[in-house]
Amino acid sequence: MSGSTKQTNFGSRLGFILASAGSAVGLGAIWKFPYMAGTNGGAVFMLPYIFFTVTVGMALLLAEFAMGRAGRSGPVGSLNNVCGKPWGIFGGIGVFTVFLILSFYSIVGGWCLKDTADAATGAGLKIAPEQLGSYFGAFVSDGVSSYLMLLLFLFITAIVVLRGIDKGVERFAKVLMPALFVLMIVLIIRGVTLPGGWEGVKFLFDFSFDKLTWMSVLNAMGFTFFSLSLGCGIMVTYGAYLKDSTDIPNSSLWIAYLAIQTALLAGLMIMPAVFAMGQDPNAGPGLVFVTIPFIFSQIPFGWFFMILFNVCLLVAALTSSVSLLEVCIAYLQNEWHMKRISASILCYVGLALLGCVSALSFGVWSEVKIFDRIIFDFLDWFCSNIMMPLGGLSIALLAGWKAWNSTYVQVNVVRKYSASANSFIKFSLRFLAPLLVLVVIATGV
Ligand code: PHE
Repeated sequence: MSGSTKQTNFGSRLGFILASAGSAVGLGAIWKFPYMAGTNGGAVFMLPYIFFTVTVGMALLLAEFAMGRAGRSGPVGSLNNVCGKPWGIFGGIGVFTVFLILSFYSIVGGWCLKDTADAATGAGLKIAPEQLGSYFGAFVSDGVSSYLMLLLFLFITAIVVLRGIDKGVERFAKVLMPALFVLMIVLIIRGVTLPGGWEGVKFLFDFSFDKLTWMSVLNAMGFTFFSLSLGCGIMVTYGAYLKDSTDIPNSSLWIAYLAIQTALLAGLMIMPAVFAMGQDPNAGPGLVFVTIPFIFSQIPFGWFFMILFNVCLLVAALTSSVSLLEVCIAYLQNEWHMKRISASILCYVGLALLGCVSALSFGVWSEVKIFDRIIFDFLDWFCSNIMMPLGGLSIALLAGWKAWNSTYVQVNVVRKYSASANSFIKFSLRFLAPLLVLVVIATGV
């Protein structure tokens, strides 16, 4: 029964761009971008990221939406419906990737919860700037408290998914996402006016070729996939809810634009404060969580804004985590014929087990390394840089070769694009995106 369309309830009554942008814009832009830019040489990371977003990223958004709207199902069902029976297997691989992503995404979601709690109790602002790093480090390496936060984050995600996304989080998201943008602007202004803050802006925009490595290019491409929720079937699932009156190329452009904008704002928000605090931009995944309390301690009514900011961030994280969990649950419902509640429980238990492994990798298991990375970093690296790009590669080839007629129809439903625009889309799906993905993975690895 892979053809059912009833399997999800992603706020189908809400604007489509808002819904898919909710999945795309989340911790990726705000937590991941600043530290990835920090560890990969600033501008040298940012420029390839923008390049990949407007080339491979846009082409794949378009392909996934087209595939979903033509197939009217989740990743497995849509690929089977559009391309024929065996091809749904790529959708199945996507669901597996989604499961892995959610296991480590929830850890960072748990960090957001912890920061929100600290903001609410006022504890967050009482820590001296030079202590912030060790305070955060102590929290993440104490497996128990960070694991409890992970369980709580997953629990909230599951409740939202079970209640129906349109009833809860998306209504908040409509108000809180714009609020998050406004707060980010306030923090940027404060950050760049801190003594030494301008150095952070320079770091982000100063492009020096000597810092450019194939690894940073691979990381930038992986981040494009992560930040646009590509290559794992999420956007295929969203596409199944697209009205025929929605223009796919235009929506893809908007989502790509919103993702880039959020990442750039986040970079501008964090990097000046990193330099003003005398921190190392290379500090890794904790960078944002160490820096943000510092900026708030430097503005009037910081405690109030800090609570507001953390709530907004949490909602941004939830609009992404619910999209991840929904795809897993819908898969179990459609392909394994499970009841929604049993599927949710099974996912929760599986994610709690896998999440435990990653949570411990910051503490007692920090010595366990896979390809020189702790388990958390490895999972993130593997999903973003290998699984999602390969998933994207298969979608691009399917949409460009096997199902080009269907892709063509979907792209031109609302507005007939010119012959050259259509040829460019076809060329991007058939050759450009697959080649870029292959070359970058091969050289980066
Ligand atoms: N794009 C989301 C973010 O930036 C993360 C995500 C990745 C969500 C993959 C769904 C699928 O936070």
